[in-house]
Amino acid sequence: MGKIICAGLGPGAPDLISVRADRLIRSSRHVAYFRKKGKLGNARRIVKDMLPANCIEYAMEYPFTTELPFDSPEYIARLAAFYDDWTERLADLAGSTDVVVLCEGDPLFYGSFMHLYIRLQGRVEVEIIPGVPGMVGCWNVTNLPMTWGDDVLAVLMGTLAEDDLVHHMYGADALVIMKTGCNLPKVRRALERAGRLEDAWLVERGTMPGERIARLAEVEAADCPYFATVLVAGHGRRPEAAE
Ligand SMILES: C[S@@+](CC[C@H](N)C(=O)[O-])C[C@H]1O[C@@H](n2cnc3c(N)ncnc32)[C@H](O)[C@@H]1O
Repeated sequence: MGKIICAGLGPGAPDLISVRADRLIRSSRHVAYFRKKGKLGNARRIVKDMLPANCIEYAMEYPFTTELPFDSPEYIARLAAFYDDWTERLADLAGSTDVVVLCEGDPLFYGSFMHLYIRLQGRVEVEIIPGVPGMVGCWNVTNLPMTWGDDVLAVLMGTLAEDDLVHHMYGADALVIMKTGCNLPKVRRALERAGRLEDAWLVERGTMPGERIARLAEVEAADCPYFATVLVAGHGRRPEAAE
């Protein structure tokens, strides 16, 4: 009987992978990862120089990307069937061998792996290796001290409605906005309404090749990649404020 081990890969740079995950990936025989149809996949790209030559790969290709609205019944049903199918396949495989599942950032932080994790409960042993979340890599490459003293940090998704974004922005000191991509113009409007645009940074592909860091107010909102995060630092009890 094998087990399923989900390895968090961190924000993108291979040398930000934990020692434990690095060792596992370099000795793996069966590796699965999510990817969009027709793409290599970001997780696979991160480990491109690490997989052993005899490793068998399982690309778990999402059945669609942006063709269906993410709250439509068809989207929900097809995605559930996709996760059910891969749960069966990975559980079968783990009946005889260990299987490593790759996951960007930390697996339990907005990770697709969680959809497999809950389905695998009670069927097969599952182990998770933590990873540095993408947002942590992003605020480090931006050299932003993010949270001070009793600052409240809100982690928001760009997929939220504009009014909801504004509401949460008013309720927090420091902000992280993920899943920015095509939602960037909406995120920008929400930040402007909440009076936070001037302090906002956009980090595209943080710690990865092609990394870009810019003040959001100075960015043309036209095209923004999927791996992009907006950051606003808190002002909290900084040392100079306490004097
Ligand atoms: C589905 S979430 C996955 C989060 C992941 N499990 C983690 O711990 O970061 C994907 C979102 O994370 C953000 N993200 C992850 N890594 C990033 C990076 N290196 N640079 C910029 N954004 C990143 C982007 O906003 C992207 O849309």
